[in-house]
Amino acid sequence: MIHKPVSIAVRFLLFVVSMALFAGLVNAQDKGPAQTPPMGWNSWNHFACKVTEADVRSAADAIVSSGMKSAGYVFVNIDDCWQGKRDAQGVIRPNEKFPDMKRLSDYVHGKGLKLGIYSSPGPKTCAGYEGSLGHEEQDAETYAGWGIDYLKYDYCSFKGDVPAQIAAYKKMHDALEKTGRPIVFSLCQYGMDRVWAWGPSIGGNLWRTTGDINDSYDRMAYLGFGQNGLERFAGPGHWNDPDMLEIGNGKMTKDEYRTHMSLWCLLAAPLLAGNDLSKMTPETLATLTNPEVVALDQDTRGVQGHRVAQEGQLEVWVKLLADGSKAVGLFNRGESTMPVTALFRDIGVGDTASVRDLWEKRELGSFKSRFTAQVPSHGVVLIKVKP
Ligand code: GLA
Repeated sequence: MIHKPVSIAVRFLLFVVSMALFAGLVNAQDKGPAQTPPMGWNSWNHFACKVTEADVRSAADAIVSSGMKSAGYVFVNIDDCWQGKRDAQGVIRPNEKFPDMKRLSDYVHGKGLKLGIYSSPGPKTCAGYEGSLGHEEQDAETYAGWGIDYLKYDYCSFKGDVPAQIAAYKKMHDALEKTGRPIVFSLCQYGMDRVWAWGPSIGGNLWRTTGDINDSYDRMAYLGFGQNGLERFAGPGHWNDPDMLEIGNGKMTKDEYRTHMSLWCLLAAPLLAGNDLSKMTPETLATLTNPEVVALDQDTRGVQGHRVAQEGQLEVWVKLLADGSKAVGLFNRGESTMPVTALFRDIGVGDTASVRDLWEKRELGSFKSRFTAQVPSHGVVLIKVKP
């Protein structure tokens, strides 16, 4: 009989201690890297396993010359397929496509950009290259020595139950931290096991919430619109990641890519371009760099937007901004142009508000109780609403 109150007290104490630890870690992230969602480029969506040092250099060149850097894109991230064999001491070496990682890192840093890399907590990466299992501290030191600023850590061949998985991600986080170099830690395990609930506590700056994106409207929309409900897990230093951008890879229409960009910005998602930056059309560049749209993503309040209304294929999403105004996306997932209405009571503004069209960069005037726009098939009208 005497056990019961004691065990409740102990449990309560454990709860208080773990909440304090959690708060401490989240606080640590509040001061660490990725205070706004990371922006940059990643090699995977366009180059996949063919990526070379030359591709990465030309991505860095293009980020600067195109104006993407000025728009906020700073990370140049090498995904899978850079790894060679380990040497006799177990130190990871790049393969022949990346002859000198330090030289590449110096090149990227020389342009005022940051370099990212990729590994796995398992023995092999998803494409079958060397993973970090059993070499976590050694790899973290190697990355820091090269001047790496971002690590995507991809589940792939890892095997183990949930506690083992959490321990494996934490192990790499701690190894990165031990190097003393600020390195953004990107968890990739496709949103299994409610990663958003434990990702922040093991030091994740972002975590994939989904399987892989591809360059199709259906897949992009499925992933992006599927983020509703995860908003309470995101904030400065720790973000939900619905995967990298496909804008400019050629298989979606202009309206579909605008939907992709608008949705990712409303979601405060990482903006990692996934196209060949050295061969970008003006339309692709404009979609990636519209300053008023990017500003929603990078808003310092760090709120992830959510859906406030849905009628069939029509959806209205809202993101609260630091200045108290609301970013609102009116989406049409249907096959023909349709009017979409945002009711001010749904988006939480008073009776009268002014509306600006962010893609058209135009003031639309003052509206009473609602705003309606004709939205093209698979398209969006993205507005800022000021009370
Ligand atoms: C997984 C990830 C992708 C990419 C590949 C590389 O599929 O989800 O983003 O990193 O591995 O092999």
